[in-house]
Parts: sequence; structure tokens; C-alpha cells
Amino acid sequence: MQRQRFMAAACAVAACIGTAAAQPAPLPTMASRDGRHALMVDGAPYLMLGIQANNSTNYPAMLPRLWPMVQRLHANTVEIPVAWEQIEPAEGRFDFSYLDALLPQARQAGVRLVLLWFGTWKNTSPGYVPAWVKTDNARFPRMRTPDGKAHYALSPHGANTLAADRKAFVALMRYLRDKDPQHTVIMVQPENEVGVYQQNRDFSVEANRLFAQAIPADLAKRTGKSGSWAQAFGKAADTFFNAWYTARYIDQIAAAGQREKDLPMYVNAAVGDPFGTPALSGGASGGPDWGVMDVWKVAAPHIDLMAPDLYGRDPKGYVKFLDHYARPDNALMVPETGNAADFARFLWPALGKGAIGWAPFGFDDTGYANYPLGAKALDDATLDAFAVKYALMAPQARGWARLAYANPTWGSTKGLEPAQQRQVMGRWQVDAIYEEWQFGDRTSPWLKSDPVPTAGQPVGGLAVIQIAPDQFLAVGSDARLKVSLAAPKGSEQGTILRVEEGSIDDTGRFTPIRVWNGDQTDYGLNFTQPTMLRITMGTFRG
Ligand code: DGJ
Repeated sequence: MQRQRFMAAACAVAACIGTAAAQPAPLPTMASRDGRHALMVDGAPYLMLGIQANNSTNYPAMLPRLWPMVQRLHANTVEIPVAWEQIEPAEGRFDFSYLDALLPQARQAGVRLVLLWFGTWKNTSPGYVPAWVKTDNARFPRMRTPDGKAHYALSPHGANTLAADRKAFVALMRYLRDKDPQHTVIMVQPENEVGVYQQNRDFSVEANRLFAQAIPADLAKRTGKSGSWAQAFGKAADTFFNAWYTARYIDQIAAAGQREKDLPMYVNAAVGDPFGTPALSGGASGGPDWGVMDVWKVAAPHIDLMAPDLYGRDPKGYVKFLDHYARPDNALMVPETGNAADFARFLWPALGKGAIGWAPFGFDDTGYANYPLGAKALDDATLDAFAVKYALMAPQARGWARLAYANPTWGSTKGLEPAQQRQVMGRWQVDAIYEEWQFGDRTSPWLKSDPVPTAGQPVGGLAVIQIAPDQFLAVGSDARLKVSLAAPKGSEQGTILRVEEGSIDDTGRFTPIRVWNGDQTDYGLNFTQPTMLRITMGTFRG
């Protein structure tokens, strides 16, 4: 699949120049270089400023309640479900009338789509499979409990379930192949928050037989473990086992779908504790939680990336998850996050850690609120917390994605450990500082104990790209940025040469609207409303 994608991308940027009008649009694809990643859309890096629709918004009658929210928030991408029960209500009879409505309306709204395939597993449950699957446990087996009873979740060891899900998914991907030549759909998520709750694996006769066998050779090689599952993984053996067979199941679905249309595919994780014991930290057992990512990497080579659904409001935990999933072999994407205002600031550290996409969940006007995970209601203050950030980034998303793919990045948010608020980038030290008045700092004699307006509020964050050895692009809000020499030698001192407010175009070229100086730079660079700055540093000798 990678080769086919490469050919499409190469065609777009080289051989086909001059005849581009006659050529099909290049397929979206994932690209990686020097440990950084880009989602290539129309042949160039793309930053998903997404929103995810509510779970039952996947019907034509609901779409008019979605598009105004897209505009209100300045999103460029919508993640939305496609349910197995909806496209194959009776076995072998397919109905794509929903997609017939969705695709042209998305084009009209000027957004790209990520389709969420709600099939065998949706939040681990079979809620979205057709009734003919739900009711036929002989053909489509549910997991068994340790004492032999039927569990709620379908088993990843059910060959018939795999075949039936795969057939429906292939029909979906064939539809996209035939009906979406312009690639409005840029990514697909096969299944949703897979794994299992209440027990850690299937205990059917077949599952127990497989569990007693030696772990697969590829997994043994990757992990350096050997023997049976229990011998290799001890207390976490059930979770590793379920991860392997769930990942193999989904990989076969993804591979078959990609044979129809080779789009990037990812899986999303119902995560546990980011600071817990790997594979025992409480996420859905066997899903792509951070502790079993290596299992998934080996078992599911057709899955381009694993992505965490982040509903925790603690900034330390949030950023820990970003660090778990941003790996040289895994592009960072946050396909779901809370839509309460507190979460809006986490866009900045996600961008700073190289995210290819970020999407708060439940943004449509259908009246549903998943509080306490997200907002109690979508009032103006909540919408604005996201909208002002997307409004800044949307026109610059292509340029940001391009520069972040080519250069070192860093980000932070209020509430992290002091060490996480400082980064050395080349010869410069970059500091993120919160809760300062703009004119002075906490040590200034003229500033006494007056609390800043944002004191104690869940706002503030920064993202930085080092675009040249002595030059940075920075975006953020409710934060202060300081750049200084990391290790001054002798009498050498660092100094700001120029700070410009402005914006970047699709190629990453910066256009200033003004130069910041005086009060605007004397005490650090204060981001209040979302702003983009280009900072050029230099040195002199004292
Ligand atoms: C995570 C799931 O992936 C979503 O579909 C949704 O159920 C949220 N949880 C809760 O609103």
C-alpha cells in the first residue's frame, strides 16, 4: 500500500507537473521524515483543525445542524460516523444514501471528512452492528466470560464476524473509490474505541486454546519476550493477547478496504491512566492504549497511526498522553477531546508536539452534551474558546503543517511541571510563563498582589516552531514567551532582533502586519488573544 501511495504523491509533485489538470487528485497519504510526520492532502501537508459530530448525527436529516457549527468554529475537517447498521440493514443489501448526502454537502461547506466506521466495535460494544448480526450469536460469537457465559462484546476470534464486517467496510471504501475522486474523505477510522471492559479478553474455548500457545514470532522479536502469553506478559497477558487479536482483526479489515481505496487509516484509543503501569492502567483492554502500542504496530501494519481520545482535564495527564503517542513511528493525532472550554487550550501543546490533527467531540446543534466529559452546553463562551484559536490557525493550517513537518517544534500549556515549561532549541532556551501581568513580572516592585484576570483559570498555551537556527514562529494565547541563550559563553548575551506579528501562507512564507517593540517586548512576549509571531534572535558581547 505504501508504494501505491508514494507513486500517487510523487506523481502530484513531480512527473505530472504541467498536466496536473488532467491528472486525478493525489491520494491522501501519511509521510514521515526525521521522526516527524505529515498528513499529505492534495499533495501537501495538511493540519486537521477538526470537530467530531455526535454519535447519531450520521443521517441526512441531521446534517443541516452540523454545517453551521463548522462555520462558527472555523473547522476545516469534520469527523463523522458511518454505521454498519445503516449501510447494510439487511445482509448483502447496501444503502449509501447517507453518503450521497454527506459528501456533496461537505464539499459545499468547504471541509474535508474523516469517516468513523462504527462496525464490530463502537466503544467496545456491538451497538452499531446490524440487527442480523446482533441476534445471531452462533454465527457472530460474543466473547465468553471466564465461567462460560455470553459477554456483551463481540469476539475478535469470530471469523464470520470479521468476514461480514470486512465485506461491509470494503463496500464503503469502494463507494469512496467511485464517488469521491476529489478525496473529500481524507482518512478513515476502522472501528471505534476497541478493546473490552469488565474482563480483559475472550475466554471462549478457541480463545483459551490460542492463549495457551506461544506468542507470535513477530511479537516475540519486537518485545524480546518468549513463551506463552502468560509467560511472556505475566499479569498483563490477557490485555496483550486481546490487543494482538483485535489488532489483527482490524488490520485485515483495513487492508481489504485499502485495496479498494488506499486512504490513511487510524485507530482511536479509550485510554487508561497515562502515569499507570503499561497495559494495566485501565483503558479498554486490548485497544490501542499507550501500553500496548508496540503490539498494534506489529499486528496492524495497515493502520497508519494510533490516536488517543483525550477527555481528562488535568494538563499533566493530557500532555503525558501527547508524549506517549507522538513517536518517530507514530504520528500524533487527537481524534477526540472534550468540547468544554478548558480543553481549548490543549490545541497549543498538541500543535507543539507535532500533531497532524486535533478535534473536540460533540460539536453540532443536535442538543446533546456529553458532560462531564465535555461541555454542559454549547454556549457562546464555550464556542468562542475554540473558535478564536481555529480562526487564527485555519488560514495558516497548510503553512503550519508544512513548517512543523520540516522543523523542530515544542508546545506547552498552563499547569505543567516547571521543567515542561522550558525547552532548549538549538542554542536558545524557550520559556512558557503563565499568569503574569503584561507590564512587568512577579518580581516587579510596581506589581503587588493583584491577581491577573486569568488567575486559576484553565486557559493558556503556546506552540513554537524553530524555523531557522535563530528564528521561531510562535502561536498561543493567555501565555508569555521568553527566548534567551541556553548557555551563554563569556560575555555573550542574547537579544531580540525583531518580533513581528503576522501570518503564514500555504507555503509557510511569513507576512508581517507590525513589529512588536517597547512595552510589547520588554517583559516577554505576551499572547493574550491567539496571535502568531515571528521572533528573530541574535547575540552581542558585553
Ligand atoms: C468516546 C467515543 O469514541 C465517542 O464515540 C463518544 O461515545 C464519547 N466517548 C463520549 O461522548
